[in-house]
Amino acid sequence: MCGIIGYVGRRDALDVLVGGLNQLEYRGYDSAGVALANGADEGAGSDADGAATVDVDVVKRAGELSALEAALEERRPSGTTGIGHTRWSTHGPPTDANAHPHTDEDGRVAVVHNGIIENYDRLKDELLAEGHRFESDTDTEVVPHLIERELEAGAPPETAVRRALEQLSGSYAIAAVVAGTDAVYAARNDSPLVLGIGEDGYYLGSDVPAFLEHTARVVYLEDGEFVRLTPDSWTVTSPDGNPVEKQIDTVDWDLEDTGKSGYDHYMLKEINEQPHALRQCLSGRVDELEGRVELAELDALLQDPPEAVQFVACGTSYHAALYGARRFRDRGIPAQAFVASEYATEAPPTGDRLVIGVTQSGETADTLSALREAQSRGVETLAVTNVVGSTAARECDHAMYIRAGPEIGVAATKTFSSQLVALNLLVEAVANGSRSGDRAQSDRVRERLAALRELPGQVQQILDESNAVDVARTYLDSSGYFFIGRGYNYPVALEGALKFKEITYEHAEGFPAGELKHGTLALVTADTPVIAVVTGDDEIARKTVGNVKEVEARDAPVIAVTDGRSDVERYADEVLEIPEAHPVTMPLLANTQLQLVAYHVANELGRSIDKPRNLAKSVTVE
Ligand code: AGP
Repeated sequence: MCGIIGYVGRRDALDVLVGGLNQLEYRGYDSAGVALANGADEGAGSDADGAATVDVDVVKRAGELSALEAALEERRPSGTTGIGHTRWSTHGPPTDANAHPHTDEDGRVAVVHNGIIENYDRLKDELLAEGHRFESDTDTEVVPHLIERELEAGAPPETAVRRALEQLSGSYAIAAVVAGTDAVYAARNDSPLVLGIGEDGYYLGSDVPAFLEHTARVVYLEDGEFVRLTPDSWTVTSPDGNPVEKQIDTVDWDLEDTGKSGYDHYMLKEINEQPHALRQCLSGRVDELEGRVELAELDALLQDPPEAVQFVACGTSYHAALYGARRFRDRGIPAQAFVASEYATEAPPTGDRLVIGVTQSGETADTLSALREAQSRGVETLAVTNVVGSTAARECDHAMYIRAGPEIGVAATKTFSSQLVALNLLVEAVANGSRSGDRAQSDRVRERLAALRELPGQVQQILDESNAVDVARTYLDSSGYFFIGRGYNYPVALEGALKFKEITYEHAEGFPAGELKHGTLALVTADTPVIAVVTGDDEIARKTVGNVKEVEARDAPVIAVTDGRSDVERYADEVLEIPEAHPVTMPLLANTQLQLVAYHVANELGRSIDKPRNLAKSVTVE
């Protein structure tokens, strides 16, 4: 999981690269670096004869992008061709030496890479035996040496890069520059890479925001495709070298969508964008009068709706999947949610007509791997994703977009809410097609669709009125935090705890409310607030209030997230209110309060909210 940017054209490449890295830093922030492939540089070295040796000039630093920017103040390479990288470590610690770009011995080839080269050990041994010297612990460093070997054997640059790539196994998006050329060479296999077609040059990025400032015209690359960019041309070829006709798409994301718009953090901006994101998700898909959901993109799937579904997902998306599976079951369609990385190890139950991968990025390696496992068994797959053209969207038989807009903060917020809404739409659409509706059923569908319509306004009300900042300040110094909920609020308890620990670095756990007493209650003290999500006034709410009494009796401070319909407030030290709503939408409202609590605790503690330590926005390794 790293970020790649590349540029060839008429502009100063360094500005483009650093601008792109700023947009990509969410993908990894252990180190950053750039390589400029042409132009002169005052700080350049010279060879024994005193001739300038600068063809590929690399500057790279461990740490966040600011460390690289400081280094570039000291020494600024110039040129109009270059590549850049922001790293999330997989092989070797975050040091200057392990930072990308990596070069060959003479510094004539520079390479950036996202992914894992599985056979790098063998290749490295081979190259060491031939006398190549290595400076880093990374798998990536074999690549410039392989290119160097081909160049030394007389291959022209493009051929050298191609031949080097042919020797790799594993996952990669790779970009390379070679001294003496004004081209950027790139290829992808199992890692994202997008091409940008601009007026003043051509761009490469791990995702579109990397170059959205310059162009919205994009070309999505497929696995195995090879790209050559020069100032005047771009070509895409197949692994065997044949030209591939590519379509240019225009993305409709605003540049504004990828900036902070005055908020201190992307996470807070994205929490506040939820009303808009939810409207987008619903737009044009709901016929409330008829009580129907129309998902044009899933026409083929819905002609013969699945009898049973399985979900695969990770992290926050898994919590959305747990919720989605329950929604399907409530609608009479058997459904189960699996942690994607475990999916292949469990014998899938019978009747799995459709496997649904829930993935914001569409690039999470564990989820992709589970989807591929399903495909290998001949099962149809559907990606519920935010990123158009992502690997999941392209590889699955069907794709449904959650339309949340770009999410930059590592902590998923608006995309979780949008996933819940999208899954509600999906379940109604599948049930539309598979069940002949009786009148009572149709009325219930209409109620649920009306509830979805009300959600954006209700989320806005919470954002305007929340007292989460006060609650956060009161319980900053606690030794641990427990989140509990039942039914649809169980995934929300898990999500509340994940968000909390991810950005506050404090210990937090989420539980089904009834489960706490089976062991974990031993940890509950006056120093461990219990955040209880209690909505409605049904049996589930009553039982959850019973669990709240159990922790209250152990002196734990209770923070109730509630619509006020149960009597949980009697046992609560603090209340985070949500509007009364339909049972299927209340979890999303409760989650908004939990997002705000996590954000404010992290903010008070001075944490790196948008880029929490050790994490990355999308995890493209298994
Ligand atoms: C949550 O805040 C995290 N960013 C993480 O759990 C994330 O949801 C997970 O890595 C899955 O990502 P995806 O939705 O892009 O597949």
